[in-house]
Amino acid sequence: MSGAPRLRPLRAGDLPALAVLGSRAADELERGAAVDVLVAVVEGRVVGVGAVDHVARPGAGVLFLLLVDPDHRSRGLGTSLVQALETCAHGRGAGVTEIEVDAGNDRALALYERLGYRRVGVVGPDGSGDRRRVLRRTPARAAVPPG
Ligand SMILES: CC(C)(COP(=O)(O)OP(=O)(O)OC[C@H]1O[C@@H](n2cnc3c(N)ncnc32)[C@H](O)[C@@H]1OP(=O)(O)O)[C@@H](O)C(=O)NCCC(=O)NCCS
Repeated sequence: MSGAPRLRPLRAGDLPALAVLGSRAADELERGAAVDVLVAVVEGRVVGVGAVDHVARPGAGVLFLLLVDPDHRSRGLGTSLVQALETCAHGRGAGVTEIEVDAGNDRALALYERLGYRRVGVVGPDGSGDRRRVLRRTPARAAVPPG
């Protein structure tokens, strides 16, 4: 059996595996078309998750809930999830995608910047004093044919 990862929409049956990973995806199942939630499956096991909120910010798809099992990191799953969620967002009409990252989460920050996200602001501090960076990606415009 191939070990190639597969991305597909979240199902209720995935929730126990996601809870083991420490993901709180259950609430998102109730939100219907407002969100798309994708899981990454390797050899039948759910090893990653990510979501995009289509309604939080007009004109933007807001990525959240991104998590990959520590044993499956650094293999491109995070990248695949982000890119598939971007496709969902643009398919729903979003001109840009955004994501908030804890200010100290250097690894996630590096991943998003490598994928073309730029820092556009900071939110917080929240009750526990944490700040979050807001990152945004604007897709390159399609080339305009000469003439
Ligand atoms: C952030 C997170 C989702 C990234 O997931 P990931 O699957 O490791 O991401 P990727 O594999 O696509 O990219 C991560 C690294 O692996 C490298 N990589 C990607 N594909 C690779 C491959 N086939 N072989 C080797 N390395 C690879 C990338 O270059 C990248 O390197 P870097 O961290 O030095 O920049 C994961 O670290 C995670 O779950 N963190 C905890 C939760 C979290 O912080 N979520 C983000 C909240 S905003």
